[in-house]
Amino acid sequence: MAMYNEKVMDYFMNPRNMGEIENPDGVGTYGSPVCGDMMQVSIRVEDDVITDAKFKTFGCGSAIASSSIATEMMIGKTIDEALAITNKQIVNELGGLPPVKIHCSVLADHAIKSAIYDYSQKTGKTYAGLEGFDPNAEEDDHHDIPEE
Ligand code: FES
Repeated sequence: MAMYNEKVMDYFMNPRNMGEIENPDGVGTYGSPVCGDMMQVSIRVEDDVITDAKFKTFGCGSAIASSSIATEMMIGKTIDEALAITNKQIVNELGGLPPVKIHCSVLADHAIKSAIYDYSQKTGKTYAGLEGFDPNAEEDDHHDIPEE
């Protein structure tokens, strides 16, 4: 189990923003086609700024750490800025993940976008960063995995 760095372990053992926002402005759930793990992100939005974000993850330690740090990265950002968060940035913020665990960060990336997608559906707003995003798509979750 020496494959996780200290920061990943910290976010796994002491996850920030775990739970669910009551009456959220947006909520999205995403299941990884790679491993079947699930993640839910709920958000509070005021004046197009994400003022709160929480997550629930039924998944591995990397998924918990990724979703926890992703909620921290979202809070205080505009919707457009939050949509620009990539799974690579999540991995970097965690100080790295083992290559076989990169898809866990993709799960967090998708869960963020799913929550914002829900918000856009509820409000009728459109965002360039959501163009082509299908919350139910089982798309290529293997992207960004470095070559061995
Ligand atoms: Fe499924 Fe990490 S192994 S999200």
